[in-house]
Amino acid sequence: MAEFFDQICRILSETAAKYPGDPSDSETIREFFSDLAAPVPEAAPASAPAVAEEKRSLPVQKPETVPAPAPAPVPAATLVQLQELLKDCQRCELCRRRRNIVFGEGDPDARLMFIGEAPGYDEDIQGRPFVGRAGELLNKMITAMQFTREEVYIANVIKCRPDDNRTPNPVEIDCCIPFLRRQIELIRPEVIVVLGAVAAKALLNTESGISRLRGRWCSYENIPVMPTFHPAYLLRNESSKKDAWQDLQQVMARFGKYHRR
Ligand code: URA
Repeated sequence: MAEFFDQICRILSETAAKYPGDPSDSETIREFFSDLAAPVPEAAPASAPAVAEEKRSLPVQKPETVPAPAPAPVPAATLVQLQELLKDCQRCELCRRRRNIVFGEGDPDARLMFIGEAPGYDEDIQGRPFVGRAGELLNKMITAMQFTREEVYIANVIKCRPDDNRTPNPVEIDCCIPFLRRQIELIRPEVIVVLGAVAAKALLNTESGISRLRGRWCSYENIPVMPTFHPAYLLRNESSKKDAWQDLQQVMARFGKYHRR
C-alpha cells in the first residue's frame, strides 16, 4: 500500500514538473495513472440487445396524475332529496357492512361547515356524524369558536363506515364525493373547515399532507376553506391542539368573533 502511494506521489510530482501551469488537468493525470488502475471494462453500447429486451418487458408506467373526469351532477334540489338519493346506496363495497348511512346534520343554511373523513363505530350505530370521542372534541372546538353544534353543518367525505376505521380508498371517495359536493352547493356555507388529511385531499384536490396545509386559507368553489387537524388526531397528539386553535381562530375572525382571554 505504502509503495502504491509513493508511486502516486512520484507521478503527481512528475506531472507537476512536466506541466507546471496545469496541475489539475484530469486527462493528463488519468493518463499517468492508467498503468496503475485496473482495466475498466468497456461500457456496453446503449442499444445492447439484452438491455433493450429487458426494457421492452418492463411494465409501462402510467403518468402519476390523470385529470379526474368531471363527476356527474347529482340531481337533488334540497338536502332532503339528496339524502333520499343515498337511501340504500350500493355504489361501493362499504354498503355491505354499514349499519347506517351517515348523511350529515346541522343547519341547512349554516354559515360554517365542518367536513370530516368518514363515520366511525359510534356514528355507524347512530347514523349521525361525530358522536364518538372525536365528536366530543369537535363539539368543544365548535363551542370554543362561539358557535353551537346546531348552528353549523357537519358532514363527512364518506357516508358509510369503512371497516376497522381504515382510510377510505380512492374508489370509495370517488363514489361518495359527488354527494358531499352537492351538499356543499345546497348549504353554500361562508366558510368550510376541513378536518384532517383525507378530507383536505379529497376536497382540495391536493397531495399535500395536513401539517403543510393547515392554517392556510384555501378555496373550494370560491368558498374559503381552512384545513386543520382532525379531532381524532388531536386526541392522540395533544400538543397539536394549540396549532388547531390558531387555525380555528382565523375562522372565527372571518365571522368577527375573537377569543376573549
Ligand atoms: N371521524 C370522522 O371523520 N367523521 C366522523 O363522523 C367521526 C369520526
